[in-house]
Amino acid sequence: MKQDDFYAYGTISRLLHWSMALCFFFMMATVIAFKIDEEYYSLMIYHKVTGVLLLALGAFRLLWAMGNRKNRPHSALPVKLGHALLYILMLTVPLLGALRQYGAAKGALEFMGVTLIPAASSKVDSFVSLGNQFHGELGIALFVVMIGHIAMAVFHQIKGEKIMQRMAGR
Ligand code: HEM
Ligand code: HEM
Repeated sequence: MKQDDFYAYGTISRLLHWSMALCFFFMMATVIAFKIDEEYYSLMIYHKVTGVLLLALGAFRLLWAMGNRKNRPHSALPVKLGHALLYILMLTVPLLGALRQYGAAKGALEFMGVTLIPAASSKVDSFVSLGNQFHGELGIALFVVMIGHIAMAVFHQIKGEKIMQRMAGR
């Protein structure tokens, strides 16, 4: 498909993009709150639950994007790499959080009576140390790449490339 032929992402891609963007902004808000005052660790349950939701939506979104790869705009290599990096971080960061939750063996993650992540029967040190080493750092990296992505989208729009319409819909 030539660049000019591409009109907009489909409904499912757009729904996934905007609902996940909202959740990511919420994740950023919880992390900022944790940094301001440890008292806000009371928000941790919402951080974890939204994170698990993002992991599930992210896995579906990756499969959806791969299945629809012929129906996507022709982008320059840096744009493709930027989007690939977003996908890698969108999946790795919650996965590391979830593995640590499981491996800590301190009880299942439950929300409204539903078990979202069970607990290992005994501590899995490798999962816990992977989470301790990388979850927070890569999470911050994801926020930085996210802000760069939004800035580039606004920049291209202002330059007159009208890429926002692709995600806003027909
Ligand atoms: C106000 C916030 C945002 C705006 C205005 C925005 C805008 C856009 C636009 C215009 C595109 C289409 C780019 C193109 O086809 O060349 C796009 C694609 C994309 N955006 Fe965003 N975005 C926002 C937030 C986010 C967030 C928070 C994430 C993830 C953390 C994200 C991840 C992606 C990805 C992975 C794509 C590639 C298409 C796909 O597979 O869904 N965006 N965005
Ligand atoms: C895409 C989803 C997620 C993002 C972007 C994210 C991001 C972050 C960031 C940036 C921090 C560091 C806060 C600090 O430095 O004080 C953090 C902390 C934390 N997150 Fe997540 N997180 C996500 C999902 C999850 C999930 C699924 C879990 C567990 C089920 C989880 C559990 C935790 C815990 C326990 C902490 C505090 C300990 C630490 O700093 O590593 N997160 N998260």
